[in-house]
Amino acid sequence: MFELKDSYSILFVCLGNICRSPMAEAVFQAIWEKKMGHIPLRIDSAGTSGFHQGAIPDSRTITVCKQHNVEIAHFSRKIVPEDFQNFEYIFAMDRQNKADLEKLMPAKTKAKLLLFRDFDSEPGNREVPDPYYGGLADFEAVYQMLTRSTEGFIDSIQSGR
Ligand code: 4NP
Repeated sequence: MFELKDSYSILFVCLGNICRSPMAEAVFQAIWEKKMGHIPLRIDSAGTSGFHQGAIPDSRTITVCKQHNVEIAHFSRKIVPEDFQNFEYIFAMDRQNKADLEKLMPAKTKAKLLLFRDFDSEPGNREVPDPYYGGLADFEAVYQMLTRSTEGFIDSIQSGR
């Protein structure tokens, strides 16, 4: 399942696509460039809701990315049916996101739908908690989970696990 391939396509999904999944996209892209830059990557993020359609990421997501020198540029969008054809890996932030995606997922899709924290070396309850009603420390905690999960995914594909 996690063999090393010629290229990767990955979509991160949360509820609003302004806090967690755009941060996941930015963090993954930055680490991939450093460790796996020779392998082409198509990456994006989306929300199960369209509540914030067209909006830039939450200011706290932008702040935490800046603090870690991670570039972030995204406009919120709602998941569309074609995403299940266009992306091989779809990583949900929490179980509700995953359940919502399972309802939308066409029967014949090749996309692999997983919780991103399945790859976290310290997985906790395997969910990236919604930091929207929290503070900057909650966004920093999300950053740490996303960094560990990205490193875990890269380790998985490198070792064929
Ligand atoms: P996200 O966070 O799913 O990580 O982008 C949220 C953003 C907005 C809302 C909920 C969660 N909201 O209810 O507007």
